[in-house]
Amino acid sequence: MLDNFVLETIARRSSIRAYLPKPLTQDQIAALKCTALASPTAVNAQSQRFIFITNYEVLASIEQAVVNRITESGDQSSIDRISSRNNKVLYDAPLFIIIAIDPNNAYGKVDAGIAVQNLALAAKSMGLDSVILGMPGMAFTGEGSDILRAQTKFPLGLEYGIGIAIGYRAMDKSPHEYTLSHIIDV
Ligand SMILES: Cc1cc2nc3c(=O)[nH]c(=O)nc-3n(C[C@H](O)[C@H](O)[C@H](O)COP(=O)(O)O)c2cc1C
Repeated sequence: MLDNFVLETIARRSSIRAYLPKPLTQDQIAALKCTALASPTAVNAQSQRFIFITNYEVLASIEQAVVNRITESGDQSSIDRISSRNNKVLYDAPLFIIIAIDPNNAYGKVDAGIAVQNLALAAKSMGLDSVILGMPGMAFTGEGSDILRAQTKFPLGLEYGIGIAIGYRAMDKSPHEYTLSHIIDV
């Protein structure tokens, strides 16, 4: 591979599911905000909104709401999975970013995916780690989600697209293995 910091950052990223209780600095958070806003969007719509959550009580509310939803669902495999993770959804990360998308934008999810990977790579390049999170989305729809939406200042009419937890890692984990045959050369 080429000797290149961006490629190296991509190769070193891995989902981390345990974080130290160490807040990020305002400079780090400001850099992540610029990273989010620098992400490309189809026809430059820029219809997504980035909710940066560092408030501990709000983070705890999100986590509890997801655990409640899973418990209420009665889906045993999900219940077992979350309990094997000690009911951690955000893994004690000091920052959780929600990318809220416009459901009427056909490229909303694609745009959110691009932005979330930008954030993951930016975090890694800054000496931080991250985990992309789809699961919290369940707490932002349906009955009882109004309180959480108010707590997170969730913009009216938008939906949870994807989220990312960011912080200082409290565990080691290697990047996933991949299969070269998944590339098709024509
Ligand atoms: C769209 C998306 C949603 C994900 N949602 C979750 C999640 O809710 N909880 C979680 O622990 N990991 C979640 N992950 C992380 C994946 O499990 C992880 O990326 C995958 O296992 C590959 O591992 P790696 O990121 O270390 O390469 C998500 C990843 C993606 C791309």
